[in-house]
Order: sequence, then structure tokens, then C-alpha cells
Amino acid sequence: MTIPPALLSHESTEHYTPQYILDAVIACLGIIDLDPASNNREIPNVPAARHYTAQDNGLVQPWDGRIFLNPPFGPGIERWFSKLYQERTAGRTTEAIVLWKSATETSAWKTLTAISCRVCFPSARIRFVGPGDLSGSTFSPALFYVGDAPERFMTAFTTIGPVWRVPGK
Ligand SMILES: C[S@@+](CC[C@H](N)C(=O)[O-])C[C@H]1O[C@@H](n2cnc3c(N)ncnc32)[C@H](O)[C@@H]1O
Repeated sequence: MTIPPALLSHESTEHYTPQYILDAVIACLGIIDLDPASNNREIPNVPAARHYTAQDNGLVQPWDGRIFLNPPFGPGIERWFSKLYQERTAGRTTEAIVLWKSATETSAWKTLTAISCRVCFPSARIRFVGPGDLSGSTFSPALFYVGDAPERFMTAFTTIGPVWRVPGK
């Protein structure tokens, strides 16, 4: 059997969030109102009240309330962070936690840290779950907090890794 190369690396979009990260997200946000990049509405990996899948195209939908975003990684990544920027600025997104990576040299990083006030750098690589063999993911993960209660994020994520303050925030 030939395994698609995308499933053997971080280029796969089907790398789902492991439970211990979701537990920390819920500890911080209380409830996840929306997962805008969901694997499946009927059997979602993220226990959000609402989900947008690729079929809905989360990029063109409103993002209301408390958001957890683990976006499809790849060349179009910055569109997800620009969208979050727009939704937060418009006041629809009240809080958000984003799971991405530590890519400090990219413009996507700059877009994301323009609205985030805290970043958690996990002490261990994240072992994603999903339909492919994702055990070999090779990127350094980072979790970003957008909102007005950074102390809640700090409390919820401190066991995952050190939480850094974004300069000026
Ligand atoms: C990295 S996975 C995260 C899945 C889930 N949210 C989680 O955290 O476990 C990204 C998901 O986004 C979906 N996706 C891709 N393009 C999308 C789009 N335009 N709108 C909504 N979802 C999309 C993919 O099918 C994939 O399941």
C-alpha cells in the first residue's frame, strides 16, 4: 500500500489535536464555541458547540465567541491568521487559542503575534492524532492566546510548557 507523502509529515492537514491539549483549552476558555477548521461535523475531534469543515470553508464564515483553531498547515496558512485578526478586530471573536508552530521568521508568525498576547512553547513535541501516521512530526509547536484574560491561559497551559508574553502586550 502506498501511503500519501502528506501523511508522513507536518504537511498533512489531518493532524488532529490530542486530548491533553484540548483539556487545557477547555480549562482556559470554559467552552469552545467554534472550531473553524474541523475534520468532521458529525464526529468532530474538537468538542466545540459549532464546527466548520472544508466543505463549509471556515475562511468565509463568521467566527463568533471562543475559538480553538488548529488550522490546515500549508502554504495558505496566513489566510487563517488574517481571518482571525479580522474577526477579533470586528469584535466577533472574543477569545481564541491557536495551535501552530514556532516559525518566528515567517510573516504568518508576525500576523499571529500581532493579535496574540501570550505564547506557550510546549516542553515536548506534540504527538498529533488522526488518520495518518503522524508520529514523526518534525516542527516545534506553539500555542497562541488571543483575548483579555492572559492569566487564565497561563494557569491552564503552564503544565504544557512555559508561557511567554508577546513584547508590548
Ligand atoms: C489540522 S486539522 C485540525 C482538525 C481539528 N480541528 C483538530 O484540532 O483536531 C485541520 C482540519 O481543517 C480542515 N479544513 C481544511 N480546509 C478547511 C476549510 N477551508 N474550512 C474548514 N476546515 C478546513 C481539514 O480537513 C482538517 O480536518
